[in-house]
Amino acid sequence: MGLSRRGLIALATVAALAVLPACSKDAGQDGGGGDNKSVEVFSWWTGPGEEEGLAAMIADFKAKNSGIEFKNAAVSGGAGSNAKAILQTRLKDGDAPDSYQRHAGLELQDDIKNGWVSDITYLYDSEGWKNVFPKQLLDYLTIDGKIYAVPVNIHRSNLMWSNPKALKDMGVESTPKTWSEFLTVAEKIKGKGKIPLAIGPGWTQKHLLENVLLGELGKAGYDGLWNGTTDWTGPAATKALETYKKVLEYSDISSASADWQPMIDKVVSGQAAFAVMGDWADAYLKGDKKLKFNEDYQVTASPGTDGIFNFLSDSFTLPVKAKNKTAAEAWLKEAGSKSGQDAFNPKKGSVPARTDGDAALYTDYLQFALQQWQGTKDGSVQLVGSLAHGVVANNAWNAEIDTALGLFMQDHDVAKFAAAVKQKYTDTK
Ligand code: GAL
Repeated sequence: MGLSRRGLIALATVAALAVLPACSKDAGQDGGGGDNKSVEVFSWWTGPGEEEGLAAMIADFKAKNSGIEFKNAAVSGGAGSNAKAILQTRLKDGDAPDSYQRHAGLELQDDIKNGWVSDITYLYDSEGWKNVFPKQLLDYLTIDGKIYAVPVNIHRSNLMWSNPKALKDMGVESTPKTWSEFLTVAEKIKGKGKIPLAIGPGWTQKHLLENVLLGELGKAGYDGLWNGTTDWTGPAATKALETYKKVLEYSDISSASADWQPMIDKVVSGQAAFAVMGDWADAYLKGDKKLKFNEDYQVTASPGTDGIFNFLSDSFTLPVKAKNKTAAEAWLKEAGSKSGQDAFNPKKGSVPARTDGDAALYTDYLQFALQQWQGTKDGSVQLVGSLAHGVVANNAWNAEIDTALGLFMQDHDVAKFAAAVKQKYTDTK
């Protein structure tokens, strides 16, 4: 018996609904409906050192789009610690902003799978972006050949910040090159009544974790943690986690700072010797605090990671449910433009995702950052991706790691932590 046309349509509809992910009941229905006289952009750049970068890009956007009001929907909290939960609720409820910040990598791929973000390959074609962004970066924003976000920068995670004058007062001659060296020097610093390592909230503890693991396991061992080839409960990872535990003992975790800026402040004031933090710290120290690079503050690769670039990239999306799509496209064009990136990045403490940024704008620390990032292309610098900033673990696993890490901070049980993370990798795959 043949099917009627209506029957065929009904079947096709059922089939289409069946492939929609369960958690995105609204995916597939278009947003739109706004008057495109404004654009609501969601990020977590409200704090000192971050909002300056955003403000510079907004100013460039306004100069090009005088008819569009910029609605800054930024939610405070480093690394999106508050913003991400709010965003998740909005996306689930079908109440998407016109564009939102996500990291390139598995953090974004969840949204793609949920059907929350639109394919914007057409913008890559119209703006000629395929020729200006490195392919290795675009791969992190792509599924099945479709590209879903515009990368605005490259940040580096594996950095250790210090204050040369304070180190001198503490009798520390050079910054530690390995975590074992750190532990030796930390004992000395503690003896002087100072804090060897400043730490902040949970996400900064995870940020430290990834960089201790990287320093102890090297690129291959570190990469293996995220693709299942390094056993979290095996001897190498266990040893690295034991090191992490010892490093934490030399931190001020019992009076941890509320966010990354006050954590860095302790290094500036000389209360603490070191802080492991991404290069947004440079924007804060140089821009906001008006300090001089290599005089008032200095930076090296975090112990054991010289020659490795632990990267993350902020990018902006076009949500399926965006109300002001044309205005959102104007914002995305801004985020992907040379002038937008060169306005934003020198103030944000990052280097442009585009390969044709104006190198003269990237001075002091950023000159080093640019040179190191370029080294990842010819292989002279090795590239790995950040855990705490969305590159190597999907959101479900990352959330489980947060829970396990929170418990670890109470019981310090390495074996239990490793077993939990390993199990959750399989559970959340
Ligand atoms: C990262 C983000 C950076 C910076 C940092 C601290 O996740 O990619 O741009 O904002 O958090 O808040």
